[in-house]
Amino acid sequence: MRYAVFGNPIAHSKSPQIHAAFAAQFGLAQFRYDKLLAPLDGFAATVRDFIAAGGAGCNVTVPFKEEAFRLAATLSARAEAAGAVNTLLVQADGSLLGDNTDGAGLVADLLRHGELAGRRLLLLGAGGAARGVLLPLSAQTPAAMVLANRTAAKATALAAEFAPRLSVPLTGTGLDGIAGRFDVVINATSASLGGTALPLPADVFAPGALAYDMMYGKDETPFLAQARAAGVATRVDGLGMLVGQAAEAFALWTGHRPQVAPVLAQLRAAL
Ligand code: ATR
Repeated sequence: MRYAVFGNPIAHSKSPQIHAAFAAQFGLAQFRYDKLLAPLDGFAATVRDFIAAGGAGCNVTVPFKEEAFRLAATLSARAEAAGAVNTLLVQADGSLLGDNTDGAGLVADLLRHGELAGRRLLLLGAGGAARGVLLPLSAQTPAAMVLANRTAAKATALAAEFAPRLSVPLTGTGLDGIAGRFDVVINATSASLGGTALPLPADVFAPGALAYDMMYGKDETPFLAQARAAGVATRVDGLGMLVGQAAEAFALWTGHRPQVAPVLAQLRAAL
Protein backbone atom coordinates (compact mmCIF):
# COMPACT_ATOMS: atom_id res chain seq x y z
CA MET A 1 0.00 0.00 0.00
CA ARG A 2 2.21 2.79 -1.29
CA TYR A 3 0.86 6.32 -1.69
CA ALA A 4 2.41 9.77 -2.10
CA VAL A 5 1.76 13.43 -2.75
CA PHE A 6 3.38 15.08 -5.76
CA GLY A 7 3.99 18.82 -5.97
CA ASN A 8 6.61 21.46 -6.66
CA PRO A 9 7.53 22.69 -4.11
CA ILE A 10 6.56 19.88 -1.73
CA ALA A 11 8.84 20.15 1.33
CA HIS A 12 6.16 22.02 3.35
CA SER A 13 3.43 19.40 2.76
CA LYS A 14 1.59 18.16 5.85
CA SER A 15 -0.06 15.32 3.92
CA PRO A 16 2.34 12.54 5.03
CA GLN A 17 1.66 13.42 8.68
CA ILE A 18 -2.11 13.49 8.08
CA HIS A 19 -2.21 10.15 6.24
CA ALA A 20 0.08 8.47 8.78
CA ALA A 21 -2.37 9.53 11.51
CA PHE A 22 -5.32 8.17 9.48
CA ALA A 23 -3.54 4.85 8.87
CA ALA A 24 -2.83 4.56 12.62
CA GLN A 25 -6.58 4.91 13.32
CA PHE A 26 -7.14 1.60 11.47
CA GLY A 27 -3.88 -0.13 12.36
CA LEU A 28 -2.78 -0.23 8.71
CA ALA A 29 0.88 -1.04 9.33
CA GLN A 30 1.51 -1.55 5.59
CA PHE A 31 0.26 1.91 4.61
CA ARG A 32 3.09 4.13 3.38
CA TYR A 33 2.73 7.73 2.18
CA ASP A 34 5.63 9.94 1.03
CA LYS A 35 5.97 13.49 -0.26
CA LEU A 36 7.73 13.52 -3.62
CA LEU A 37 9.03 16.44 -5.64
CA ALA A 38 8.10 16.22 -9.33
CA PRO A 39 10.10 18.29 -11.83
CA LEU A 40 7.98 21.08 -13.36
CA ASP A 41 8.36 19.46 -16.80
CA GLY A 42 8.19 15.86 -15.58
CA PHE A 43 5.01 15.29 -13.61
CA ALA A 44 3.51 12.52 -15.78
CA ALA A 45 6.79 10.59 -15.97
CA THR A 46 7.28 10.84 -12.19
CA VAL A 47 3.78 9.49 -11.54
CA ARG A 48 4.29 6.64 -14.03
CA ASP A 49 7.59 5.67 -12.35
CA PHE A 50 5.85 5.70 -8.97
CA ILE A 51 3.09 3.39 -10.23
CA ALA A 52 5.60 1.08 -11.93
CA ALA A 53 7.36 0.80 -8.55
CA GLY A 54 4.11 -0.32 -6.89
CA GLY A 55 2.33 2.97 -6.12
CA ALA A 56 -1.42 2.41 -5.63
CA GLY A 57 -2.51 6.05 -5.70
CA CYS A 58 -1.39 9.60 -5.04
CA ASN A 59 -2.38 13.12 -4.17
CA VAL A 60 -1.49 15.97 -6.45
CA THR A 61 -0.89 19.56 -5.41
CA VAL A 62 0.30 22.85 -6.88
CA PRO A 63 1.06 23.23 -9.77
CA PHE A 64 0.05 19.83 -11.19
CA LYS A 65 -3.72 19.52 -10.58
CA GLU A 66 -4.65 20.42 -14.18
CA GLU A 67 -2.01 18.08 -15.57
CA ALA A 68 -3.30 15.26 -13.35
CA PHE A 69 -6.77 15.97 -14.78
CA ARG A 70 -5.39 15.33 -18.28
CA LEU A 71 -3.48 12.23 -17.14
CA ALA A 72 -6.53 10.44 -15.69
CA ALA A 73 -8.24 7.90 -17.97
CA THR A 74 -11.50 8.20 -15.99
CA LEU A 75 -12.80 11.18 -14.01
CA SER A 76 -15.29 11.48 -11.16
CA ALA A 77 -18.10 13.99 -11.80
CA ARG A 78 -16.63 16.38 -9.24
CA ALA A 79 -13.17 16.22 -10.84
CA GLU A 80 -14.76 16.80 -14.25
CA ALA A 81 -16.54 19.92 -12.93
CA ALA A 82 -13.43 21.17 -11.11
CA GLY A 83 -11.25 20.79 -14.20
CA ALA A 84 -8.57 19.61 -11.79
CA VAL A 85 -7.56 16.39 -10.00
CA ASN A 86 -6.03 16.19 -6.51
CA THR A 87 -6.36 12.42 -6.06
CA LEU A 88 -5.37 9.60 -8.41
CA LEU A 89 -6.21 5.94 -7.90
CA VAL A 90 -4.69 3.07 -9.87
CA GLN A 91 -7.61 0.87 -10.98
CA ALA A 92 -7.60 -2.93 -11.35
CA ASP A 93 -6.75 -2.66 -15.08
CA GLY A 94 -3.83 -0.31 -14.31
CA SER A 95 -5.57 2.82 -15.62
CA LEU A 96 -5.87 5.99 -13.55
CA LEU A 97 -9.06 7.28 -11.95
CA GLY A 98 -8.95 11.02 -11.23
CA ASP A 99 -10.97 12.52 -8.40
CA ASN A 100 -11.11 15.91 -6.70
CA THR A 101 -11.73 15.82 -2.95
CA ASP A 102 -11.08 19.51 -2.22
CA GLY A 103 -14.75 20.54 -2.39
CA ALA A 104 -15.90 17.64 -0.22
CA GLY A 105 -13.20 18.55 2.32
CA LEU A 106 -14.43 22.14 2.39
CA VAL A 107 -18.09 21.14 2.72
CA ALA A 108 -17.37 18.72 5.58
CA ASP A 109 -15.45 21.44 7.44
CA LEU A 110 -18.16 24.06 6.84
CA LEU A 111 -20.83 21.67 8.14
CA ARG A 112 -18.85 21.24 11.36
CA HIS A 113 -19.38 24.96 11.99
CA GLY A 114 -22.83 25.73 10.60
CA GLU A 115 -25.59 25.03 8.08
CA LEU A 116 -25.42 25.45 4.32
CA ALA A 117 -28.92 24.40 3.27
CA GLY A 118 -31.16 27.43 2.74
CA ARG A 119 -28.35 29.90 3.50
CA ARG A 120 -27.10 32.73 1.28
CA LEU A 121 -23.57 31.90 0.22
CA LEU A 122 -20.87 34.24 -1.12
CA LEU A 123 -17.78 32.71 -2.73
CA LEU A 124 -14.87 35.13 -3.23
CA GLY A 125 -12.51 34.37 -6.12
CA ALA A 126 -12.85 32.87 -9.58
CA GLY A 127 -9.59 30.91 -9.97
CA GLY A 128 -8.95 27.19 -9.69
CA ALA A 129 -9.74 27.07 -5.98
CA ALA A 130 -13.21 28.58 -6.50
CA ARG A 131 -13.98 26.43 -9.55
CA GLY A 132 -13.05 23.30 -7.61
CA VAL A 133 -15.65 23.81 -4.90
CA LEU A 134 -18.66 25.21 -6.79
CA LEU A 135 -20.35 21.88 -7.52
CA PRO A 136 -19.96 20.33 -4.02
CA LEU A 137 -21.15 23.60 -2.40
CA SER A 138 -24.23 23.79 -4.60
CA ALA A 139 -25.10 20.17 -3.73
CA GLN A 140 -25.71 21.38 -0.15
CA THR A 141 -28.69 23.37 -1.52
CA PRO A 142 -27.92 26.89 -0.30
CA ALA A 143 -30.73 29.39 -1.04
CA ALA A 144 -28.49 31.29 -3.46
CA MET A 145 -24.84 31.50 -4.42
CA VAL A 146 -22.95 34.61 -5.51
CA LEU A 147 -19.47 34.42 -6.99
CA ALA A 148 -17.49 37.65 -6.61
CA ASN A 149 -14.04 38.35 -8.00
CA ARG A 150 -11.60 41.28 -8.35
CA THR A 151 -11.78 40.75 -12.12
CA ALA A 152 -15.55 40.77 -12.59
CA ALA A 153 -15.47 39.18 -16.06
CA LYS A 154 -13.92 35.98 -14.65
CA ALA A 155 -16.71 35.67 -12.07
CA THR A 156 -19.51 36.27 -14.58
CA ALA A 157 -17.95 33.79 -17.03
CA LEU A 158 -17.53 31.08 -14.37
CA ALA A 159 -21.08 31.65 -13.07
CA ALA A 160 -22.48 31.48 -16.61
CA GLU A 161 -20.62 28.19 -17.18
CA PHE A 162 -21.88 26.52 -13.99
CA ALA A 163 -25.37 28.04 -13.60
CA PRO A 164 -27.10 25.80 -16.21
CA ARG A 165 -26.15 22.58 -14.36
CA LEU A 166 -26.92 23.76 -10.82
CA SER A 167 -30.34 23.75 -9.16
CA VAL A 168 -29.21 26.67 -6.96
CA PRO A 169 -29.30 30.23 -8.41
CA LEU A 170 -25.71 31.35 -9.13
CA THR A 171 -24.61 34.82 -10.26
CA GLY A 172 -21.20 36.37 -10.84
CA THR A 173 -20.05 39.91 -10.04
CA GLY A 174 -17.06 42.12 -9.29
CA LEU A 175 -16.14 42.73 -5.63
CA ASP A 176 -17.68 46.20 -5.97
CA GLY A 177 -20.96 44.67 -7.17
CA ILE A 178 -21.62 42.59 -4.04
CA ALA A 179 -25.13 43.40 -2.84
CA GLY A 180 -27.00 42.18 0.22
CA ARG A 181 -25.92 40.18 3.25
CA PHE A 182 -24.60 36.63 3.30
CA ASP A 183 -24.82 33.85 5.89
CA VAL A 184 -21.69 32.08 4.66
CA VAL A 185 -18.75 33.98 3.12
CA ILE A 186 -15.88 31.87 1.76
CA ASN A 187 -12.55 33.32 0.68
CA ALA A 188 -11.18 31.29 -2.26
CA THR A 189 -8.84 34.06 -3.45
CA SER A 190 -5.11 34.00 -2.93
CA ALA A 191 -5.22 37.57 -1.55
CA SER A 192 -4.28 36.36 1.96
CA LEU A 193 -0.94 35.11 0.59
CA GLY A 194 0.01 38.70 -0.15
CA GLY A 195 -1.26 39.82 3.24
CA THR A 196 -4.05 41.82 1.60
CA ALA A 197 -7.60 42.27 2.87
CA LEU A 198 -10.37 42.34 0.25
CA PRO A 199 -12.41 45.48 -0.47
CA LEU A 200 -15.73 44.09 0.80
CA PRO A 201 -18.87 46.09 1.67
CA ALA A 202 -19.05 46.73 5.45
CA ASP A 203 -22.44 44.99 5.73
CA VAL A 204 -21.62 41.87 3.69
CA PHE A 205 -21.92 39.55 6.72
CA ALA A 206 -25.46 38.70 7.87
CA PRO A 207 -26.05 38.40 11.64
CA GLY A 208 -24.67 35.02 12.78
CA ALA A 209 -22.62 34.64 9.59
CA LEU A 210 -19.83 32.10 9.10
CA ALA A 211 -16.58 33.43 7.59
CA TYR A 212 -14.31 30.79 6.04
CA ASP A 213 -10.83 31.29 4.58
CA MET A 214 -9.46 28.43 2.48
CA MET A 215 -5.99 29.68 3.49
CA TYR A 216 -4.52 28.91 6.91
CA GLY A 217 -1.44 29.75 8.90
CA LYS A 218 -0.11 30.25 12.39
CA ASP A 219 -1.36 33.84 12.32
CA GLU A 220 -4.91 34.98 11.61
CA THR A 221 -5.41 35.55 7.87
CA PRO A 222 -6.24 39.10 6.65
CA PHE A 223 -9.72 37.94 5.58
CA LEU A 224 -10.52 36.46 9.01
CA ALA A 225 -9.17 39.60 10.70
CA GLN A 226 -11.56 41.58 8.50
CA ALA A 227 -14.45 39.31 9.53
CA ARG A 228 -13.52 39.70 13.21
CA ALA A 229 -13.50 43.50 12.83
CA ALA A 230 -16.98 43.23 11.28
CA GLY A 231 -18.20 41.37 14.39
CA VAL A 232 -18.35 37.85 12.89
CA ALA A 233 -18.12 35.31 15.71
CA THR A 234 -17.64 32.14 13.67
CA ARG A 235 -14.37 32.40 11.75
CA VAL A 236 -12.63 29.32 10.37
CA ASP A 237 -9.41 28.86 8.40
CA GLY A 238 -8.65 26.19 5.80
CA LEU A 239 -6.71 23.73 7.95
CA GLY A 240 -9.85 21.62 8.37
CA MET A 241 -10.38 21.62 4.60
CA LEU A 242 -6.83 20.27 4.19
CA VAL A 243 -7.51 17.40 6.60
CA GLY A 244 -10.98 16.88 5.09
CA GLN A 245 -9.75 16.50 1.51
CA ALA A 246 -7.13 14.04 2.79
CA ALA A 247 -9.82 12.02 4.59
CA GLU A 248 -11.82 11.73 1.36
CA ALA A 249 -8.75 10.54 -0.55
CA PHE A 250 -7.86 8.04 2.19
CA ALA A 251 -11.42 6.65 2.07
CA LEU A 252 -11.25 6.30 -1.71
CA TRP A 253 -7.97 4.38 -1.51
CA THR A 254 -8.54 2.19 1.54
CA GLY A 255 -12.31 2.01 2.04
CA HIS A 256 -11.80 3.33 5.60
CA ARG A 257 -13.34 6.70 6.56
CA PRO A 258 -11.01 8.29 9.13
CA GLN A 259 -11.86 10.64 11.99
CA VAL A 260 -10.84 14.19 11.09
CA ALA A 261 -11.15 16.02 14.43
CA PRO A 262 -8.21 14.45 16.33
CA VAL A 263 -5.86 14.85 13.36
CA LEU A 264 -6.94 18.46 12.90
CA ALA A 265 -6.28 19.18 16.59
CA GLN A 266 -2.83 17.59 16.29
CA LEU A 267 -1.98 19.72 13.23
CA ARG A 268 -3.34 22.90 14.81
CA ALA A 269 -1.15 22.39 17.86
CA ALA A 270 1.92 22.02 15.61
CA LEU A 271 1.31 25.18 13.48
P1 ATR B 1 -6.12 29.46 -7.26
O1 ATR B 1 -5.87 28.21 -8.03
O2 ATR B 1 -5.57 29.49 -5.87
O3 ATR B 1 -7.58 29.84 -7.26
P2 ATR B 1 -5.65 31.44 -9.27
O4 ATR B 1 -6.34 30.60 -10.29
O5 ATR B 1 -4.40 32.18 -9.63
O6 ATR B 1 -5.27 30.60 -7.99
O7 ATR B 1 -6.73 32.50 -8.71
C1 ATR B 1 -6.40 33.43 -7.72
C2 ATR B 1 -7.70 34.15 -7.29
O8 ATR B 1 -7.38 35.07 -6.25
C3 ATR B 1 -8.34 34.96 -8.40
O9 ATR B 1 -9.73 34.96 -8.19
C4 ATR B 1 -7.72 36.35 -8.15
O10 ATR B 1 -8.49 37.43 -8.66
P3 ATR B 1 -8.32 37.89 -10.22
O11 ATR B 1 -9.06 36.88 -11.03
O12 ATR B 1 -8.91 39.24 -10.27
O13 ATR B 1 -6.83 37.87 -10.48
C5 ATR B 1 -7.75 36.39 -6.65
N1 ATR B 1 -6.77 37.33 -6.06
C6 ATR B 1 -5.44 37.17 -5.94
N2 ATR B 1 -4.90 38.23 -5.31
C7 ATR B 1 -5.91 39.08 -5.01
C8 ATR B 1 -6.00 40.34 -4.33
N3 ATR B 1 -4.91 40.95 -3.84
N4 ATR B 1 -7.22 40.91 -4.20
C9 ATR B 1 -8.32 40.29 -4.68
N5 ATR B 1 -8.31 39.10 -5.32
C10 ATR B 1 -7.13 38.50 -5.48
